[in-house]
Amino acid sequence: MGDAFRRYWIPICQTSDIPTPDSPPFPLEILGQKLVVWRNADGQLGVLDQFCPHRRSSLAIGRCEGDGIRCLYHGWKFAPDGTVLETPNVNDPDFKNRFKAEAFPVREAGGLVWSYLGPKLLQPEFPHFPWFDADDDHRNNAYALNHCNYVQALEALVDSSHLNILHADGLVASGQLENLNFSAAAEMTFDAAPTIEVDDTDFGFHYAALRRGENVSGKGEVHVRVTAFSLPCFIANPNEDLFMCVVPINDEQCIHFHVWWHAEREMGKDPLKSNMLKHVGLDPEALANYNMTYETFNDDDRPSLRNRYKQDRSRIQAGSFSGFHSFTQEDSAVNISPGAIKDRSKEILAPVDMAVSRLYRSLISAAQAVENDQEPQGVHADQTKIIGRNGTVPEDEDWRQLVPTHTITRRYRSVKLGRGTPEQVH
Ligand code: FES
Ligand SMILES: [Fe+2]
Repeated sequence: MGDAFRRYWIPICQTSDIPTPDSPPFPLEILGQKLVVWRNADGQLGVLDQFCPHRRSSLAIGRCEGDGIRCLYHGWKFAPDGTVLETPNVNDPDFKNRFKAEAFPVREAGGLVWSYLGPKLLQPEFPHFPWFDADDDHRNNAYALNHCNYVQALEALVDSSHLNILHADGLVASGQLENLNFSAAAEMTFDAAPTIEVDDTDFGFHYAALRRGENVSGKGEVHVRVTAFSLPCFIANPNEDLFMCVVPINDEQCIHFHVWWHAEREMGKDPLKSNMLKHVGLDPEALANYNMTYETFNDDDRPSLRNRYKQDRSRIQAGSFSGFHSFTQEDSAVNISPGAIKDRSKEILAPVDMAVSRLYRSLISAAQAVENDQEPQGVHADQTKIIGRNGTVPEDEDWRQLVPTHTITRRYRSVKLGRGTPEQVH
């Protein structure tokens, strides 16, 4: 799967992690690979192997000096593309021309820093997601770190039936919030037994939750919520203003990036920005309390079985369903509590997990394609076309008209969900 991930451009951190040339070099691990992200004096980003090619001192403690980053140990200096600019402890002026530091292509878009960690010859064109066009004022970026395999975090995003159970309290609160788009989820409550339909697409798959109702003239209509999964790790939420990506740090840790955006609403400005993050538990304080920031991620008191993942049982007694802070902490607890890599041989999937099983299949087929020297699905997908949607269609018409840009490659039979199992909305 690591080889499959290396065929796509993926987000590695946020622009806010390394905003200016003065910012300290930002060390991180992606796909089990230790990297450093830094800027030269022109603001150009570099993504390098975190360890100096001389004797492996970390460049995270290096000096950003004009056109390059200088290793503290013996002063070797590197450009963003890995060119060796200086080797002050070597007399031979040609020595530095014989090798380069390991450098990776990098781009900045949508408030995120992206890199391509795969074979140079197979590097695809840089994708363009719809939210790349939103300026900073109209976009809200946040991420949370989790101590679990990335699939465990990803599958919760195509899990139709947990929302008004695990997130029962937050969902009720969402309906009461004004001027936050979370209210788009409120309509789901009128029919707790939707029909689910899943199609494979050229980028992965999408699935729809369909609820029957009546329009104002009394005619039958279907309320539709479509979620899209784009390989290898992207989710377009049906609320239409939220995109998510779950990127592996390594096999047992992952980064969950969130991007909200809106053409008119200034989601990137306070108070809306802070209010949105606070509501879902992605504000700095809540993230730090649950050790979901880089500063706190590996602290001894992080969520574990020993401390019940920081669940507050007294809150349950006081009426909370989960005893956790908010959506983010609830999801994290259920995702990490099975263990960093859960024993999937003991999972019993139900019809309601149809999209979860499509996710597994989709990821496995990408890994198999790469193993067979083929291109995995979606490498060249037009990401501008990948959308989540909520809307209505007349009862006798196909909901797929709401996502006309999705190219469907295979359809699956519908599944009617049991009561109390509405679709994923956050
Ligand atoms: S280890 Fe970096 S210059 Fe020697
Ligand atoms: Fe959730």
